Amino acid sequence: MPRAQTPLPGQIGRGPASKIVAKRRSRGVGGRSAKPLENVNFWKNGRSGRIRTCDPCVPNAVLYRAEPHSDKRPAYSVGLGAPQAAGLRNFIPVKTGLETLILPAGQAAAEAAARTLGTGGLVAFPTETVYGLGADAANATAIAHLYAAKGRPAFNPLIAHVADLAGAQAIGRFDARALKLAEAFWPGPLTLVVPKTEGCPVADLATAGLDTVAIRIPAHPVAEAILRAFGGAVVAPSANISGHVSPTLAAHVASDLAGRIDLIVDGGPVEVGVESTILGCFDTPMLLRPGGLSRERIEAVLGAALARPPVDAGSDDSQPLAPGMLASHYAPRASVRLDAQDVAPGEALLAFGPARLPGLDAASAVMNLSPSGDLDEAAANLFGHLRSLDAGAPRAIAVMRIPEQDLGEAINDRLRRAAVAR
Ligand code: TXA
Ligand code: MG
Repeated sequence: MPRAQTPLPGQIGRGPASKIVAKRRSRGVGGRSAKPLENVNFWKNGRSGRIRTCDPCVPNAVLYRAEPHSDKRPAYSVGLGAPQAAGLRNFIPVKTGLETLILPAGQAAAEAAARTLGTGGLVAFPTETVYGLGADAANATAIAHLYAAKGRPAFNPLIAHVADLAGAQAIGRFDARALKLAEAFWPGPLTLVVPKTEGCPVADLATAGLDTVAIRIPAHPVAEAILRAFGGAVVAPSANISGHVSPTLAAHVASDLAGRIDLIVDGGPVEVGVESTILGCFDTPMLLRPGGLSRERIEAVLGAALARPPVDAGSDDSQPLAPGMLASHYAPRASVRLDAQDVAPGEALLAFGPARLPGLDAASAVMNLSPSGDLDEAAANLFGHLRSLDAGAPRAIAVMRIPEQDLGEAINDRLRRAAVAR
């Protein structure tokens, strides 16, 4: 685990950090504050604004976002140490200022992406689930930059994306059951966690030192073209700042990561809208994260019920089973109220289905995930609608009840994370 003074990989930038420290000290409010910082009156480059923590439940890496009053571009910083104990002495500014190229999908973009990946660069590209931020899976330095660009806690392992089964078997060992699942659902929104092969080229940094590797073949022509042009495995978490909702449009990626990555390949809106389902191919197959492929469909192929992970998986910081389960992984700025039966004045409503809730007329904004109550449509709209409602800075976002079946399991999982008190 990184210690308080140790920069995350790729994040070095003493000047602004020490200025902040000096200024803070001179005000007599030292770095010993026990609370996350808010309403701080300065930021690097002399901006003023509010600083809020975005990822408060990750023990050793806290992302701060400075929201300037006067300047439209927010700034980010990663503080290391427990969120409750974070002080400005822990601040390490994230390197920004890269020129981010945005290319429309096509052969030229696929080739540019492959070249960029090959030289250790970072490329955002669409998959059928959400946009991913890709780096060469075998290049530890590139992966360090990827963690830095996302402000992501370094213990969180990544999914290796490959173009075909041969690519998957070069990095992971597939027993008969894993092979059956791969054949049934790949390409598609299923990630399989399997033991690494001998000599697996995926960098240890990408697997967080585990002896397993998470693999998937995405079902998206743009992702496939990039993976084929590149030739090797590409690790890709969702292309958002850690703690923000996952991107379903290239514009979402740009709003989080422009200036921090090399290239965004714009392939239009994604189809599924929630991340892949993650299945641990352990002795007992285990659903590590509900996602774009429903539990029911996997169980039908396995002919058996899937085990659930231990209830507290991911709630401590020691090698969680699937750290994506960290309680507040997805976080709009507004607080989120689930299972709403009514709307309070000033709340925004995230609706589902045709019902009209009491108080609807006083809502600050209303978006419907699926007026007809279709769960696939709701999944595709989930992150985009959350972002849109959040952008209006409502008092809170009230969310109507979503049934816990099919993709509803993944939707409710994401909504529960978004609702974790921050
Ligand atoms: O749909 C998706 O899966 C998207 C697109 C871009 O492919 N990717 C994505 O990646 O959601 P990310 O990094 O946000 O989530 C990866 C999840 C994390 O929860 C991580 O802990 C888990 O995969 N994971 C990766 N390797 C693992 C391993 N060896 N064992 C258990 N969990 C693992
Ligand atoms: Mg993610």
